[in-house]
Amino acid sequence: MIRLEQLCKSYHLGNETVHALDRFDLTIESGDYLSVMGPSGSGKSTLLNMLGLLDTPDSGQYWLESELVSELDEEQRARVRNERIGFVFQAYHLIDRLTARENIELPLILNSTPPHERRPQVEQLIDRLGLSHHADHRPHQLSGGQRQRVAIARAVIRRPALLLADEPTGNLDSHSGADVIELLEELNGEGITLVLVTHDPNMGERAGRRLWMQDGCLRQERRGSDNAQR
Ligand SMILES: Nc1ncnc2c1ncn2[C@@H]1O[C@H](COP(=O)(O)OP(=O)(O)OP(=O)(O)O)[C@@H](O)[C@H]1O
Ligand SMILES: [Mg+2]
Repeated sequence: MIRLEQLCKSYHLGNETVHALDRFDLTIESGDYLSVMGPSGSGKSTLLNMLGLLDTPDSGQYWLESELVSELDEEQRARVRNERIGFVFQAYHLIDRLTARENIELPLILNSTPPHERRPQVEQLIDRLGLSHHADHRPHQLSGGQRQRVAIARAVIRRPALLLADEPTGNLDSHSGADVIELLEELNGEGITLVLVTHDPNMGERAGRRLWMQDGCLRQERRGSDNAQR
């Protein structure tokens, strides 16, 4: 479903070059659950931004469902991003002047879904995520865990094939963090491909594929519930 080939991304600061991604290869099958771990600065967010078409590589190829998306222009990339990819960030990135319900509804408004179609979808998701009592609240009136649930609802309201989460529990206590991970795993169980960046080894261990990055490279991958190294 997803193939990255020899993906490179560098940043230049003064006369220093940082290889945030260094000839990175990766294949992800539909429905996979991957965690990405590694030290700060190892390239985890850069990898996620590439997968999410938020950023473009300097070189290399990115195939998404047999489409060479690394060659698309900005407008085409935005289309692919809106139709097929959902994002969840550590800091939620909700719009504070909108209610929880309006935040969740926004992607459907932006793609011109008519009100009579989008309302039931939004209400169903609000129910399912246990947000019924908070739907009219604005983000600052919600707990961190509730905000992240709203952010997840917004990310999946258009039923993307790929869900990318960059340290989604980074601002949460362990209890709400575990809830958020369980929700993401539930969505993965329904077939959505999930890539989760985390600093928490206990959370990372839960994924079917655990990637370990260092200096823009894949250092190690483990699969399944064993500790066997590939
Ligand atoms: N916009 C940018 N300009 C300059 N350098 C950048 C930029 N974005 C990332 N980098 C550099 O690229 C490298 C990889 O950064 P990245 O954010 O992907 O790391 P990370 O693994 O997500 O780290 P963290 O765990 O701290 O979030 C780092 O050395 C970082 O300083
Ligand atoms: Mg990061």
